[in-house]
Amino acid sequence: MSQRSSSTFENECQKPFALSSVFRPGLFEGRVAIVTGGGTGIGKAIAKELLFLGCTVVIASRKKDRLASGAEEIRTWLTHTGQQATLHVLQCNIRNEEEVKSLISTTVLTYGKLDFLINNGGGQFISNTAEIRLKGWNAVVETNLTGTFLMCREAYNQWMKHHGGVIVNMAMDMWKGSPLMGHSGAARAGVVNLTKTLGVEWAQSNVRVNCVAPGSSIVSPTAAANYGDLNVFDGIGATIPMKRTGTVEEVSSAVCFLLSPGASFITGETIRIDGGQSFYTTPTYSLPDSKPTDKYSWQSCFDAEGPEAAKSKL
Ligand SMILES: NC(=O)c1ccc[n+]([C@@H]2O[C@H](COP(=O)([O-])OP(=O)(O)OC[C@H]3O[C@@H](n4cnc5c(N)ncnc54)[C@H](OP(=O)(O)O)[C@@H]3O)[C@@H](O)[C@H]2O)c1
Repeated sequence: MSQRSSSTFENECQKPFALSSVFRPGLFEGRVAIVTGGGTGIGKAIAKELLFLGCTVVIASRKKDRLASGAEEIRTWLTHTGQQATLHVLQCNIRNEEEVKSLISTTVLTYGKLDFLINNGGGQFISNTAEIRLKGWNAVVETNLTGTFLMCREAYNQWMKHHGGVIVNMAMDMWKGSPLMGHSGAARAGVVNLTKTLGVEWAQSNVRVNCVAPGSSIVSPTAAANYGDLNVFDGIGATIPMKRTGTVEEVSSAVCFLLSPGASFITGETIRIDGGQSFYTTPTYSLPDSKPTDKYSWQSCFDAEGPEAAKSKL
């Protein structure tokens, strides 16, 4: 595994208590959410922003140690921000139907409801499609597509069918095919289509189902570690129209918008969060040598405005 570059994760390492949601404080007070993969990377940012906005959050994934260290970090951060919100940790492999049933039922029994489901948990490995073994193919498809289906179905059948709710799924930039990630591209395309189907079928129950599709450019140390190369994000920025990588906060804020009443007439939709990456094709146009666009992160807000940044911007 290569050494990580000094700058790639600098946002992650400084002032770990910085947070500045663009949404109003208390927006999600009284709400209950499950965030799969909520102990690391993008999912951890989503869990933090939801907690910051007053939501009770259950984070769930397979590995106890990852969940425990993620939860410890989030709880320490919560204490420092002065926010009072409940964080609950449950172990669950979203590929396992019984574990998914139990995750939803435990949440509903413990908190009496389930308002939001964020199907963030997932993953893949890099390989030429010709070299993917069936076991590896099935693992990725069962996690990213079947796991999302199981979570959606159980959330709906056990609670949302009769009480309404909002679901946000996770896709990726697979719009032009997914060289070296054929398994995940196929699974995420399935998630985008499933999102449309559920948006239509469950509208009658006041359940909205949407999706976010980050480019392969959202900098997270755990995601890089999964690929076995902590420099995996280096150099990507130059190939993106906005000339930079993305932040976990830029995914979290889109998720919070989709969960919010501001998105109450949006369902079945997928929002791309990729700095224009998926629209950029090379044959007739080459990106000019421009400067990176302004980045949004809690750290940059904190640096610009100090602790007062932890207040709503709207
Ligand atoms: N970073 C990017 O640029 C990017 C781009 C497009 C899409 N995505 C997707 O966005 C999501 C978050 O990614 P990230 O960048 O934050 O990477 P990450 O830190 O590796 O997050 C993946 C999370 O998913 C959980 N997970 C994996 N398999 C699971 C399973 N079978 N059951 C339950 N939880 C499972 C992992 O926890 P455990 O290991 O404890 O299970 C981990 O917390 C993933 O679905 C990823 O594929 C990321």
